[in-house]
Order: sequence, then structure tokens, then C-alpha cells
Amino acid sequence: MIHDFLNDDRFKGIEKFDQKIWLASPTMHGDEQYWVDEAIRTNWVSTVGANIDTVEKEIADYLGCGYAVGLSCGTAALHLATKLAGEKLYGQAKPNQGTLQGYKVFCSDMTFDASINPVAYEDGEAVFIDTEPDTWNMDPAALKKAFEIYPDVRLVVVAHLYGTPGKMEEIIDICRRHDALIVEDAAESLGAKCRIKGEWVETGTLGDYNAISFNGNKIITGSSGGLFLTNSKEDADKVRKWSTQSREAAPWYQHEEIGYNYRMSNIIAGVVRGQIPYLDEHIQQKKAIYERYKEGLADLPVSMNPIDFENSTPNYWLSCLLIDENAMAGHIRGEQEELWLHENGKSSPGEILAAISAFGAEGRPIWKPMHMQPLYRTNPFVTASGNGRGRTNAYISGTFEDVGADIFRRGLCLPSDNKMTEEQQDRIIEIIHRCFL
Ligand SMILES: Cc1ncc(COP(=O)(O)O)c(C=O)c1O
Repeated sequence: MIHDFLNDDRFKGIEKFDQKIWLASPTMHGDEQYWVDEAIRTNWVSTVGANIDTVEKEIADYLGCGYAVGLSCGTAALHLATKLAGEKLYGQAKPNQGTLQGYKVFCSDMTFDASINPVAYEDGEAVFIDTEPDTWNMDPAALKKAFEIYPDVRLVVVAHLYGTPGKMEEIIDICRRHDALIVEDAAESLGAKCRIKGEWVETGTLGDYNAISFNGNKIITGSSGGLFLTNSKEDADKVRKWSTQSREAAPWYQHEEIGYNYRMSNIIAGVVRGQIPYLDEHIQQKKAIYERYKEGLADLPVSMNPIDFENSTPNYWLSCLLIDENAMAGHIRGEQEELWLHENGKSSPGEILAAISAFGAEGRPIWKPMHMQPLYRTNPFVTASGNGRGRTNAYISGTFEDVGADIFRRGLCLPSDNKMTEEQQDRIIEIIHRCFL
């Protein structure tokens, strides 16, 4: 939808940014260049080398996790984590079949599709579990319902949205009771912690098999790259083998199982290696951004993405806001386009995102829940009150709560780049205020 914000009287006096303010862009410090150059100087321009070994060791140590395996991206880590879980549960599959063929897997619903696509890569069927409003992650009450409906399920894929950990103590308890394995997607939450039975534990170590991402927009980056994390040496060795085409112990290329070319590059690892010392600094910068938004937007009918401070410490990767229901202006979304209209004292994600974009800043809608995606529209969806499909009735009125759909409708991700200055952030806060005039 096109609107001329720069000439709209409501926004009078606000200057366009000279340089684009990004949602979350890489923040380089110089050490990255050193380790990339070192890889080239020593000719370790390969998927082997000291940068990879160091990244694996330093992140495993930082997280307090047994083993890390450097891979080409977080998606590759999630794929091999999911495949490994499938093989543990249901045995080795034929080369042309996934390990989850014929099986259902409970999955976070409001996340990036990379979290849960590996279930389909492995021929399984994702059952989407609705979101809770306290942290915007998998709802343990909906997970419990899902186990009532599908008691045979043995695998749960759980993500931590925008760097805020979910209710992991409850989720782990439910999974243990049902003898289910957990694949933890900590792609967005490196450095965030959860309290489990009184102990603070890092995300990325909470599942049986875990993944983090070094994608260009993450809290630290390699431009791409990811890690598979586990406490089992045998499992780490298996993933390392799969990621390098599953070569057997023979002098020639011998293969007994299907393989992948998923290993991390030593050049990419050089960038990650240079970033690791700055992880805590990035988290502090992101925290300051979250707090400035919280304070600056406190007088508006909005709230920030919620955090359960008693049981978690986020890494504040992205700051988000949610518009109060009674302050939502008309806003509808089709499959690829949206329409919004302005109403005095109200606004909508569409209007706010378009307004900040007109002034040169990048925001983003909340992840569209997986159960609403055309790709997965025929997959089951379970909410805290049971089956989430086919819940309205043409002849009987009533409401049905779909928490993820509601957050998607009313929420948005704010520019959260850790190089944004306070003045720039204040200008974004001012633009958001003007949207509600
Ligand atoms: C929640 C989530 N899962 C998985 C991924 C995939 O990671 P990658 O881009 O490194 O493949 C991302 C980010 O890109 C993500 O945000």
C-alpha cells in the first residue's frame, strides 16, 4: 500500500535518515579480518582449519555444552539435529527416505520456517503447537494437549523467538514424561539463558540436539554458518560425518549412508572467531535498545515483546512491539499484500512499518505462524484448548483463541541494529508516536 508519509502533516519536522537503519546488520570489529587473513595466509581455505576448531571449542565452552560441530548454516544444523533424532527414535532410513516418514513431530508455530522445514526434509509431519502470550514461544499447555491428542509422538522441535527463551522447564518436563526427544532451535538466542530447576542454563544446551545460527543478522555472525550442539560425543561425531558426505573408513570414497556437504568453511569460521569476544557486548547494546524503546513507547497503547525475567535472561536480539487491541486501526492482510487505514489515536503494524520505512528504517512483521502458511495449511495445529483446526461454526457463535495469529496481526519487529545511535532510535520512537496521532 502506498502512502506519502514524508508529506503527511502528522510527520512534519521529522527528517529522513541519511543512512538506512537496519533491522539487525553485522557489526564487525577488526578481529574478523585478522582470522580470515590468517586462514588465507596459511592456506586453510577449506572446510578444515584452526578457525573452525576454535569456534567449536569456544562456543561449546561459553555455553557449557559438550560438543559443537561447525556447519554451513543454522538450517543445516537443524536438519542434522532433526535427522539424528529421527534415526534415534525410528532407526536408519533408506537413502531415498527420511527418518521421520510416517511420524508426527510437535513444532513451535510462531517461528522462521527454517526451524521446522527439516521435519519435512525427513518426511515427517509437523504438528504446530500454539504460542503463549508471556514469552511468545511454544505454549506448554498446548503441548500437553497435543500429547493427549497424539500420544505416540516422540519428538518436539522448539525455538526461542527473537532471543527470548520460552518456558523450557515446563516443556522439558512434559517431554521427559512422554519420553520425547527435543531439538532446540537457539538460532536467534545465543547468549540467552533459562532457569531450569533453579540453575541458569544457556539456550542451545537445553535439548537433546541443538542448533545456533551465525546468519548475517544474528547477535554474532560469520555472514553465514551455524553450530550443531550436543553433550554426546557419539552424536557429534555422527553429525560431523554426515556433514562431510558420510565417508566410511576406507582408502577410497566408500558410503554406507546418505551424506551432505554441510560443513562450515574455515573462512566463515574466521569471521565468527573474530566475533566471539564481542558477544556479551552485543547483548548489552541490544538490551539498551530494548529498554530505550520500552521507555520511549510507554505512553502509547502498545507493549514490548514480553520477557519472563524470573526464569529467563534474553539476548534481546530483536525488539518488538504489540499494539493494544483497542488501538488497532483497520488492517487486513491477504496472502501477499496488505491494506491498512489510519484512524485517529490508532495504528497498525502495516502503517508503522510503512512509516519507518519511508524515513529509511527497516522493521519487519512478526514471523507469520507456520499453521497459517500456505505450505503447511493442511498440517495439524493444537492450541491450549485442543485441536486448532475447524474450530468455528457457521451456525453457532463463539470465539476461538489462536495466540500466534493474534501476535502476528498486532505485532511487529522494530529496527534493532546495535550500531543505531540514541538520536536515531529516538527519531524512530517519534515516528511511531506520530502514527498514533
Ligand atoms: C529461528 C530460526 N531458525 C533457524 C534459522 C536458520 O538459520 P540459518 O539462516 O543460519 O540457516 C534462523 C535464521 O536465519 C532463525 O531465525
